[in-house]
Amino acid sequence: MKLMTKGCLVACVAGVSLFGGCGGEGESSSAPAAAKKPSVNAMAVKGGLVFKKTCATCHGGDAKGMENNGPDLTASEFVRDTSAEDLLTYVQVGREVPGGVPMPPRGGFTEEMLPDDDIVKVIAYLKNFPGNKP
Ligand code: HEC
Repeated sequence: MKLMTKGCLVACVAGVSLFGGCGGEGESSSAPAAAKKPSVNAMAVKGGLVFKKTCATCHGGDAKGMENNGPDLTASEFVRDTSAEDLLTYVQVGREVPGGVPMPPRGGFTEEMLPDDDIVKVIAYLKNFPGNKP
């Protein structure tokens, strides 16, 4: 009876250390996946082209804003402090402005004309302005 108790204890301790080993391996395998992501700069360049076609009418060709219309997006606390994921949702949904000029959903374009992929590129373009970096 005494011996069996001892045996169980040894097995449990061995089990715990095995699980510890597995956790370590999982972490190291995530590095190659991150390397496959497209470069931020290539995305930003493409995003600049999309911006000129879909956002510049209200935010200006240089994204510095237009009076009584879209605000400056090159030095925007909102763009700086909002995650890329939440900015995608923001552009999809737009913003109602009671008594003022709204930001239309997708800038007024359909999903066919301005797919999510293109919005993601525009966001990379906007996040790349020095005024929007943390
Ligand atoms: C029809 C005009 C119009 C178009 C087109 C447009 N916007 Fe806007 N956008 C606005 C206006 C007006 C506001 C300000 C809304 C407000 O006062 O809250 C705004 C606000 C924003 C903001 C929030 C800025 C801040 O500091 O709060 C972001 C980000 C933005 N637009 C991104 C875009 C992107 C990206 C596109 C192109 C896909 C786009 N907009 C197209 C009119 C437009």
